[in-house]
Amino acid sequence: MNNAFIPPQKRAAWNKLQALAQSELPHLRELLADQSRARASGLQLNVAGLQLDASRQQVTPEVLQALLELAAESGVLQQSEAQRRGVAINATEQRAVLHMALRGADMADAPWGEAVSSAVRQELDRFLDAAERIRDGRWLGQRGQRIANVINIGIGGSDLGPRMAVQALDACASSAVRVHFVSNPDCWALQSILRWCKPDSTLFIVQSKTFTTQETLTLAASAQRWLADHGLSTTEQQAPHLIAVTASPAVSAAQGYAPENTFGFWDWVGGRYSVWSAIGLPLAIAIGAEQFRAFLAGGHAMDRHFWKAPPEQNMPLLMALLGIWNRNFLGCPTHLIAAYASRLFHFARFVQQLDMESNGKSTHVDGSPVEVGTGPIVWGGLGIEGQHAYFQLLHQGQHRVPVDFIGVQSEDCLLPLAAEHHRVALLNLQAQAQALALGRDATATEAELRANGLDEARVAELLPHRIFRGNVPNSTLWLPALTPHTMGAMVALYEHKVFCQAAIWGIHAFDQWGVELGKTMARQMEADPGSFQRPGIKPHAV
Ligand code: F6P
Repeated sequence: MNNAFIPPQKRAAWNKLQALAQSELPHLRELLADQSRARASGLQLNVAGLQLDASRQQVTPEVLQALLELAAESGVLQQSEAQRRGVAINATEQRAVLHMALRGADMADAPWGEAVSSAVRQELDRFLDAAERIRDGRWLGQRGQRIANVINIGIGGSDLGPRMAVQALDACASSAVRVHFVSNPDCWALQSILRWCKPDSTLFIVQSKTFTTQETLTLAASAQRWLADHGLSTTEQQAPHLIAVTASPAVSAAQGYAPENTFGFWDWVGGRYSVWSAIGLPLAIAIGAEQFRAFLAGGHAMDRHFWKAPPEQNMPLLMALLGIWNRNFLGCPTHLIAAYASRLFHFARFVQQLDMESNGKSTHVDGSPVEVGTGPIVWGGLGIEGQHAYFQLLHQGQHRVPVDFIGVQSEDCLLPLAAEHHRVALLNLQAQAQALALGRDATATEAELRANGLDEARVAELLPHRIFRGNVPNSTLWLPALTPHTMGAMVALYEHKVFCQAAIWGIHAFDQWGVELGKTMARQMEADPGSFQRPGIKPHAV
C-alpha cells in the first residue's frame, strides 16, 4: 500500500469543505432558530460527566459530514491506535507517546503492554506514598518538623499542569500543607513565598524532565541557599527538604538530590502531557492519593471514550474538527478559552502550552512545508474578566474569534450567598455565548434605540455603532462540578483534541524543536556577551 504522505489540502474532503465555506453559509441566527438541529446534529455530547454543547458552531449537516470524511481520510483514529500501541510516533525524537498509560495502568490487556503498566504502577505507588507521608506528618524535616509548605520549582509542563490542577481542585485540598508554585527566575515569586515559610517545615520539589532547564536550576540554587542560610547546609541536612522529579535521575543525582527522594517518569511522557506522572506530585500532596487516582480515572474514562466511540459521537474528535473548520475554512487564526469558574484561572495557560507547543509547527511529518494553517493562537483566562477587558473586540472588532466557554454547573462554595454568585457567573456565560452567536441586526438595534426614546436623527447617528454582527462560533463545555474526575476528563479531552488536529494537519505534535534556538543563544550569550553586541547597543552585563 502506498504510504506516501498526503497533505491535508489534497484530501477530497478538504476540497469539499472549501466549497462549503465559500457557499452561502447560514448565519448562526438561522441555524439556532432550527431547534431540531441542535438535538439531531450530534453537536451536543455527554462523556465522562462532561457535557459539550457545540450547537453555536457555524456548521450545517453537510459541513459536519465533510469534516468526518476528512478525519476518516486522514486516518485519525488509526493513528491513535498506533500511538497507544507504543509506536514511536514522536519520530524526530524517536520516542513513543504514552502519557495515557500513566492513567491506564490498571487496564487489562493494555495496548502498550504490561511492562509499561507495571513500571507506571510502581512509580505511582511510590510518589503517592510520599504524598501521603507529607500530608499526614510522617515526612519530617531535618530538625523533626512536619511539612507545612511545599514549593514546586519548575516551568512549562513541569509547572502548568500541576499548578492548574491544584487551583482547580482547591475545594478538596489539604489544609495542613500549602502548595505553592514558582517558575520565573526573576525570583520575586520565590521571595514572596519564602517570607511566609520556615525552613524546618518547608519542602521544595524541583521538577524538570531534563534537569537542565536554566530557569529551574537557578531557582533551585536559591532554594538550597535559603536552606543553607538557615543552618541546613550539607547535602544530608537538605535531603528531607528537597525532592527531585525528573526523567533524568542521573543528572539530578549528580546535583546532589537523594535517590530516595527522587521520583521519575519516562522519555515517552512529553512535558506538557506529564501532569499524570510524578510531575503531578504537588497535586497529589494537595488532594491526596485517593483523589489523585480519581483524577487519573477521569482521564482514563475520556481515553476509553476516545478510543471506542464512533467518530460522529467522539467528543475530542468533534472539538478537533470544529477547530479545523474555524481555523482552516472560516479563517479564524486564534482560539479563546473563557472559563467561568475562578478556580480554572490557569486552565487557558495550560491549554496554551498544550496546544501551541504541540501544533505550532509548519513542517509536515514527511519534511515538506505546510501550506495550510496549523495550530491557532490559543489565549484566554476567566470569561467574566474578559467581558470587562477584551469582549468588546469579540463583539464589534475585526477578528472572528471562536470561543470555548467552560462552565461548572454546581457550586460548592461555603459562603452564604454562594448560590447568587454562581447564578450571576452562569447567567453571564450563557448571555455571552448567545450574544456572540446571534448578535443584533440593524432592525433589532433600531427598535432598541427607539425604545430608549431617541429621536430619528439620534437613532440614525448611533445605529452603525450599535449593531452586533454576531455569527461568532462558540461551544460550551459544562462540568457538573470541579472534581478530580471531571478535571482529569477535561485535560484528557484537550490532549486528544490536539492529537486529532495534528493527525489531520500531518504535523508532529510531540516534539518542540522551536524552543531550542533561544536556549542555544542564551548559552552563547552567557559564554561570550560581546558576540551578540549590536552597534550602539551596550549588552546588559550578564
Ligand atoms: O518549553 C520547552 C520545554 O522543554 C517544555 O516542553 C517543558 O515542559 C519545559 O520546557 C520544561 O522542561 P523541563 O521539564 O525539562 O525542565
